[in-house]
Amino acid sequence: MKSYDLAVIGGDGTGPEVVREAIKVLDAAAKKFSLKLNYTNYDIGGDRYLRTGEVLPDSVLGELRKFPAILLGAIGHPDVKPGILEKGILLRTRFELEQYINLRPVKLYDERFCPLKDKQPKDVDFVVVRENNEGLYTGAGGFVFKGTSSEVAVQESVNTRRGVERCLRYAFDFTRKRNQAKKLTLCGKTNVLTFAFDLWERAFHEVGQKDYPDIQRDYAHVDATTMWFVKNPEWFDVIVTDNMFGDIITDLGAMIQGGMGIAAGGNINPQGTSMFEPIGGSAPKYTGKGVINPLAAICAGQMLLDFLGETTAAKAIEAAVIKVVREKIKSLAAGKMGYATSQVGDLVAGTL
Ligand code: IPM
Ligand code: MN
Repeated sequence: MKSYDLAVIGGDGTGPEVVREAIKVLDAAAKKFSLKLNYTNYDIGGDRYLRTGEVLPDSVLGELRKFPAILLGAIGHPDVKPGILEKGILLRTRFELEQYINLRPVKLYDERFCPLKDKQPKDVDFVVVRENNEGLYTGAGGFVFKGTSSEVAVQESVNTRRGVERCLRYAFDFTRKRNQAKKLTLCGKTNVLTFAFDLWERAFHEVGQKDYPDIQRDYAHVDATTMWFVKNPEWFDVIVTDNMFGDIITDLGAMIQGGMGIAAGGNINPQGTSMFEPIGGSAPKYTGKGVINPLAAICAGQMLLDFLGETTAAKAIEAAVIKVVREKIKSLAAGKMGYATSQVGDLVAGTL
């Protein structure tokens, strides 16, 4: 029997509630496919910070490194100044564990939940590969004359050939493995960001031409990309983009696949510890009410199993989610599902 040690961070707000359901489903899959999943919980998040002043102790980060994968609920606390937990926990983990890919599938499971007119599941089915370790997220920059009328704030976008190329290669490999339209679209802003996206574009074509001649290369500016997400989402197969643009377009992506209740993502280090999470936030106003949609966390669990190489179990979870979404769920929004949070978990686990 294959056995996996997994780290679990419920985190803030509704994070622990949705993670509980994800684990319920993972356990059902483990039982069915004869896997052994061993969980270690870490108390990280706003409550610990408010209690002890600790954000992410080095010792915890050191322990997290030893796991193949982490399941994360949500980070963000209404009583903690924005930025402290996000930077100190989420971004620090992404950077220090070199999770240089943020993989965000955008897949519509039922046309009832698509806000776009006349779009069906076959039209909304693509994956965004977001660079996750560079760009505007590195924290490079600073102030001059802070607090005066001459204040200057500079925030630099860092793009290294190594960082860009490994992200592109991951995206090309992923497109090949996905084996659908075999089309990779670079999403950038070559008409304005003439340094950063010049590097991206050159690397994209060099790598693609040399090592991935079977993959069709396409390019779209980021503003046009948002337009096409709404107008012609069926044009996309796999999209690769930088950290900031990836952040922005995947919120729109989440909406066209049915909302934050269903959107999941993975922070991936292909050779190391990866971390899977629902892409929505901690939703403090719904905390403890049993109304939050756990499907995004359940889908994060599915991505986690897929990352571990348990593709059959992962596919079974997805199939169960699709069945429950199509046949049971009334809405993907919190409080409107027609079921409580734990009942949705029961439905998916039961369907498995
Ligand atoms: C996301 C989030 C984070 C990001 C925040 C919370 C730092 O919006 O995962 O998309 O900007 O990456
Ligand atoms: Mn975001």
